Amino acid sequence: MTKRVAILISGGGSNMMSLVKDMNGDHPCRPCIVISNVPDAGGLAKAASAGIATLAIDHKQFGKDRGAFEDAVHDALVAVAPDIVCLAGFMRILSPEFMAKWDGRMLNIHPSLLPKYRGLHTHQRAIDAGDEYHGCTVHEVTAELDGGPILGQARIVIAAGDTADDLAAKVLPFEHALYPKVLRRFASGKRDQVVLGV
Ligand code: GRF
Repeated sequence: MTKRVAILISGGGSNMMSLVKDMNGDHPCRPCIVISNVPDAGGLAKAASAGIATLAIDHKQFGKDRGAFEDAVHDALVAVAPDIVCLAGFMRILSPEFMAKWDGRMLNIHPSLLPKYRGLHTHQRAIDAGDEYHGCTVHEVTAELDGGPILGQARIVIAAGDTADDLAAKVLPFEHALYPKVLRRFASGKRDQVVLGV
């Protein structure tokens, strides 16, 4: 049976669109909703143009009440009964309580070779550390920030003189390639790691 995929975004939605474009033909999944915590996120318009239901849940309207924001997101998800939830450039940290509710059903893409550089500013941190390689990771979401089981990684070489912007630009196409591959496999029950890049 076709699996329903909800996608959470905060920005331009390029990763979201790479997932959406792949969910065709024999793909085991179809998108059921795109939700953004940023009402004017560019990705919402892209999803709507692709014929997908969209919803904005502005975290700012909940002030400091993270729990109320998460309850609203949770209720919106439950309403569309997704089998899988993909975080795709979703820039809010979710509480362990929220993540526990979607344990085993939620994926995230992160722009580093986890377990290196959880959190923000991953490209600059890789440069500052003098790393030879950088990349991106798709992982299952667990209660630990950027810490769940790794389902796929793409690796690139850091060239001399690369800036954080250079690395972001180099890594992004690999994000777009990696996430759809992992989603296909995850939806078919496969948990072995996808490896791309060098
Ligand atoms: C990527 O750098 C991704 O790693 C980060 O957000 C950027 C992509 O945003 N988390 P989007 O998918 O185009 O919204």
